[in-house]
Amino acid sequence: MRRARPVILTGDRPTGPLHLGHYTGALVHRVRLQHEYETYILIADLQALTDNTERPELVAQSVWEVLLDNLSVGVDPTLATYVLQSGIPELAELTQLYLNLVTLARLQRNPTVKEEMRAKGFGSDVPAGFLAYPVSQAADITGFGANLVPVGEDQIPVIEQTREIVRRLNRLYGETLVIPEAMTSAVGARLPGTDGQAKMSASLGNAINLSDPPEVVRQKVMGMYTDPTRLRATDPGHVEGNPVFDYLDALDPDKARVEELKAHYRRGGIGDVAVKRHLAEVLEAFLAPIRARRREWENRPEEVRALLAAGTKRGRRVVARTLDRVIAAIGLPHLIAPTLSSRGRAKRGRGINPDTMPSAEGGRTPPKEARRAAHDR
Ligand code: TRP
Repeated sequence: MRRARPVILTGDRPTGPLHLGHYTGALVHRVRLQHEYETYILIADLQALTDNTERPELVAQSVWEVLLDNLSVGVDPTLATYVLQSGIPELAELTQLYLNLVTLARLQRNPTVKEEMRAKGFGSDVPAGFLAYPVSQAADITGFGANLVPVGEDQIPVIEQTREIVRRLNRLYGETLVIPEAMTSAVGARLPGTDGQAKMSASLGNAINLSDPPEVVRQKVMGMYTDPTRLRATDPGHVEGNPVFDYLDALDPDKARVEELKAHYRRGGIGDVAVKRHLAEVLEAFLAPIRARRREWENRPEEVRALLAAGTKRGRRVVARTLDRVIAAIGLPHLIAPTLSSRGRAKRGRGINPDTMPSAEGGRTPPKEARRAAHDR
């Protein structure tokens, strides 16, 4: 049964509640993909900490926010496995091994990281952990044996970096890891902010959160940016570049009605307030069931905790197996055995593994399969 389906891994940095942009960009696809793939949902708290070092409580709190947000939109814990990054120390071990497979210059050239560094205003004081987050992400992706990684365009260079690390590892130590692929098809168009900026983002203060109460949603909608060139409701208006219509396109199930509204708006004769009222209703219809499901989970906090713990435990076994394979491929003597590997060392915990002890002659036990694979190529 295991490995019958391709594996996908998606990750969220827990730095605050998820918003409509996360929904249309990622969550809606997750809900669909969980039926077709073996799905891991990684809550990347260690990655979030790389640029929130001084706000650990925000990260810790957001772990639960992000988990509830995913649950409330229907990412089903019986279909997908939720894992907490910091609960899997083997990911850190993989990261350390991978750090040798990438140069500092290459990390500094990563366009995604460069852009984030600029946006966060690190200047020359970049935390080394932040610069290296793509390496930790390579550990995430390969640790779970992910074949496909649903990400937005902006994360493609990070996936490319993973692929380079994997290729280098496979070349040096023998065919050990699968080369993952970015799955951009599973990511929708970017939703603009309520202020008309290209991206909805908590840090820009232009987001409508999935957990916002109805009054807040209404307020945010009524304050939205629309067509600034239009002075009166009778004037013809612009639909393109108008976030109110982008939201309707994304979330109003009645497409014919949206087209009618657009035509009316272009012609003139309908006011912004009327269109916004309509959007507020559409969002309310969309968010009400999400809110209801969220409340159900919020009422069962022990269950929420338990599902994350169980998923993390399951995920940890998978990552431990990968770490085992990587250590064997590199050919380290393997005195220290991964805690939870498949070979039954789980109960004994870490300790000396007699199978891979250096031999009496002082040589080491060769990592068989890996070496052979390297020779065959
Ligand atoms: N870097 C991703 C983001 O900023 C989050 C992430 C962490 C991730 N680990 C991952 C995404 C593994 C995909 C796979 O959104």
